[in-house]
Amino acid sequence: MEIWTDLGFTQSPYNTDSLPPTAIGERLLVGRESHIRRLINRLSSSSSHVTIEGEAGVGKTSLMTVASYRMKRNSDKSRLPIMLPVDEKFQIANKGGTSLLEAKVYRAIAAAFIQYHDDLKSWGYRTPKVKEIDK
Ligand SMILES: Nc1ncnc2c1ncn2[C@@H]1O[C@H](COP(=O)(O)OP(=O)(O)OP(=O)(O)O)[C@@H](O)[C@H]1O
Ligand SMILES: [Mg+2]
Repeated sequence: MEIWTDLGFTQSPYNTDSLPPTAIGERLLVGRESHIRRLINRLSSSSSHVTIEGEAGVGKTSLMTVASYRMKRNSDKSRLPIMLPVDEKFQIANKGGTSLLEAKVYRAIAAAFIQYHDDLKSWGYRTPKVKEIDK
């Protein structure tokens, strides 16, 4: 890792992690504009669960994170349902099974409420008390 910072990079250029749900992630996403718009439309106009299929590494997760970042960013001025990106990825494992997965998901949702507490408030939503969620 240090070699890359020594060479003036912030991280390895060979990193294949998905793009983050941030302004940088949005900037780094090449193309996919129509896919992003379709995804946002589906996410906001129906109660069904959207699935994304594609070959390994084609950019499925990045599409989702950038779409959710954009929805979060637009939450203050649109009537779309609010989408708050969570930092964690979830995968069911042999050990712990569904109950561990469920616990992890609830914990991440609670963390998002804390992280975006001020945003929610400034958009006029009633927010739970952070101390209570923390508990
Ligand atoms: N449209 C794009 N613009 C820029 N980088 C991209 C794009 N699509 C994918 N990448 C890059 O390719 C790599 C793989 O992307 P990502 O993890 O989103 O793919 P994936 O389809 O979810 O992979 P997997 O099948 O492993 O879940 C990442 O480094 C990501 O930054
Ligand atoms: Mg993925």
